[in-house]
Amino acid sequence: MKTPDHAQSNKKITQKWIEEEKSVHIQFYRRQPVVFERGEGCYLYDVEGNRYLDLVAGIAVCVLGHCHPKLVEKIKSQVEKLIHTSNLYYTVPQIELAEKLREVTKMDRFFFCNSGTEAVEASLKVARKVTKRKKFVAFTGSFHGRTMGALSVTWKDIYRKPFTPLIEPVEFAEFNSVESLKRKVDGETAAVIVEPIQGEGGINPANEDFLNAIFELKDRYEYLVIFDEVQTGFGRTGEWFAKDCFDLEPDIMAMAKGMGSGFPIGGIAVKEEVAKGVEFGDHASTFGGNPLACSAALATIDVIEKEKLVNNSKKMGELLKDYLYDVFGNARGMGLMLAAECDRAFDFVKNALRNYLLVNATSEKTLRFVPPLIIEKEEIELAYETFQKVWRDTNALG
Ligand SMILES: Cc1ncc(COP(=O)(O)O)c(C=O)c1O
Repeated sequence: MKTPDHAQSNKKITQKWIEEEKSVHIQFYRRQPVVFERGEGCYLYDVEGNRYLDLVAGIAVCVLGHCHPKLVEKIKSQVEKLIHTSNLYYTVPQIELAEKLREVTKMDRFFFCNSGTEAVEASLKVARKVTKRKKFVAFTGSFHGRTMGALSVTWKDIYRKPFTPLIEPVEFAEFNSVESLKRKVDGETAAVIVEPIQGEGGINPANEDFLNAIFELKDRYEYLVIFDEVQTGFGRTGEWFAKDCFDLEPDIMAMAKGMGSGFPIGGIAVKEEVAKGVEFGDHASTFGGNPLACSAALATIDVIEKEKLVNNSKKMGELLKDYLYDVFGNARGMGLMLAAECDRAFDFVKNALRNYLLVNATSEKTLRFVPPLIIEKEEIELAYETFQKVWRDTNALG
């Protein structure tokens, strides 16, 4: 047991780091008052030695939990062999990763980058090049990233407005409205970009009729369909990719987040016909697809397969969803990509932290749950008990 004095001095360590951060960082982030030092499985440990159950997983990133031994081992062995060469040369892990992805995505060709927003940039550029058209159709509630292209197809005005002019033309149709979609797409449309389940927008699954309509209208207008699976990919939804939940095949798929389970890597997967429409020099990345990142992604996919994490995501997702219904009276989402509506979601997040539970809110009314895919029944039950206490505390605080 810690003595009160010990606890006091540990608090000071946290405070000291927070003050230091405030003095040296550009203040883009509003962070929770905790400084993390290490992680293991579904748990994170702060600099005071406290243990937290993590239902955020680096925002749907750490699919294998923290520091999975197989991931650590693979990164360690690659780091001793080769870290970087540039894409002037061939490297084996990059080729092996594309081969493995061909199997799990059922798509044909791949390009690797370092983040979700870069994957979206690459998708947009490829769509323009292949179709020789300029216009993009995106949706209300969408989030595709912060770089200028990805930002142009992101819905929220507060993200976009300060940075105009962005790329044009972009039209926003209402998410899940076939009528609105029909009004926006035409023969000038290069691509429709959609998240099959909106993540930052608050875990909003697309309905089947709406997604089918995107593909039906594609036949008429010959645009490309881009699925942004940056958040939904790599087992998150209880299938390898959300496209598999709907049995649909986009022309381009953007990936990142779970791909390296915390090691930064992103990429796009395209159909063969799409790959034929681009050529040498159209796009590139210095760091993208480096052997270290590709090895991390290979290890991630290997563990997802060996530990049957796609299935675990579906099974544990159902259990967590039942508990969310029980506590909040509502729940939505697929696999381990879930949300619950509640009043004062930001207060809930703060109170949960005080109870050593990490959850995230996408708005004042929406709690998001995207835990590691390795999560087990015991941890979900611990989360459930903590939800009940935190919910009582949040309501009692008025
Ligand atoms: C669907 C989607 N696309 C793109 C991005 C941007 O990814 P990154 O933050 O890695 O640039 C995100 C990030 O949350 C996302 O959820």
